[in-house]
Amino acid sequence: MSRHVLITGATGMLGRQLMATAPKDYSVMGWSHSDLRPGLDAIDAVSATQVDGFFAEHSLDVCIHTIAWPDVQKCENDEEGAYLVNSVTTENVAAACRRHGVRLIHMSTEYVFDGTREAGYGEDAEPNPLQTYGQTKLVAERQAVTVPEHLVVRLPVLYGELAQNLSPLWVPALLTALTRGSTVKLDDRFERQPTWTFDVAQTLWRLVDADVQGVIHVASQEGMTKYAWGLLLASAAGLDPSVIEPARGMPVVPGIPKPLRPWLLTQRLEQMGVPPLPGLSHRARAYVNSVPAGTAPGVPSSFVESNG
Ligand SMILES: NC(=O)c1ccc[n+]([C@@H]2O[C@H](COP(=O)([O-])OP(=O)(O)OC[C@H]3O[C@@H](n4cnc5c(N)ncnc54)[C@H](OP(=O)(O)O)[C@@H]3O)[C@@H](O)[C@H]2O)c1
Repeated sequence: MSRHVLITGATGMLGRQLMATAPKDYSVMGWSHSDLRPGLDAIDAVSATQVDGFFAEHSLDVCIHTIAWPDVQKCENDEEGAYLVNSVTTENVAAACRRHGVRLIHMSTEYVFDGTREAGYGEDAEPNPLQTYGQTKLVAERQAVTVPEHLVVRLPVLYGELAQNLSPLWVPALLTALTRGSTVKLDDRFERQPTWTFDVAQTLWRLVDADVQGVIHVASQEGMTKYAWGLLLASAAGLDPSVIEPARGMPVVPGIPKPLRPWLLTQRLEQMGVPPLPGLSHRARAYVNSVPAGTAPGVPSSFVESNG
């Protein structure tokens, strides 16, 4: 069925994939904020007036809300900013969805969990976020469920195209270091479920099409630490993985509590007959070849570990 869909955060890592993969019979609009692009509407979603004004002027069926600050360290450094971008934008979008009868598909995160449960987390598990990012995203979830027709989608760590701002920052830095033959230490304690934005976008469009409601986890079921992730990328890129060393000390970002294993179980998706999302071992080669035309992988001057 044809639908009018708004994607908030259309310049972001996931938003771009959603814009690029929308079903042909859907009419799709997107918002940007600081990254102004032709074809997108510039909206500051912290402003309830701007958000409601847009909804009032456009006839929408579905809003896919991807705006966030997903950088854990940035959120911890600027709690007020994190609250505004993660929580208040969702409050404003949810209010507009209620007022204008629009279905809300809200993106959330495995960071709403504390990662202590060995068996992993189903959709009904009790959240217990450990840091500002998870706390502000949980507030956002609670706003999203006030919309009569809503779907909260919890995601694990994502990777997009291999370019600055479209993949975890540490990945281009890693590939640069490996090209130079420098030794790199990567965390080997925190297990994650790296999942490609392309695969997430395909699944999201299926969920939109099927009018799925409630809460759902969308994640690959292949777990790995950054160390294992780095080894896979090195070999997919034809680089020497032997210079990557496992780091098993305490975390990467001192002072910010990170969940050790916030594993997202995907039984609901499986019950719906949706095949499991591919793990990185099936995607690594395509990923390292996914530098968008006209860009080079961004290379930060120092090696930076991201929130994943
Ligand atoms: N990245 C991950 O590993 C990960 C993991 C789990 C869950 N998630 C969730 O998935 C969703 C998408 O994440 P992502 O990685 O695609 O994020 P992202 O790449 O950082 O993109 C964030 C988007 O938010 C927009 N934005 C920021 N402030 C805004 C404001 N005041 N008004 C309007 N737009 C604003 C940005 O627009 P401009 O660029 O134009 O400023 C950008 O399009 C988020 O809900 C995130 O919490 C992400």
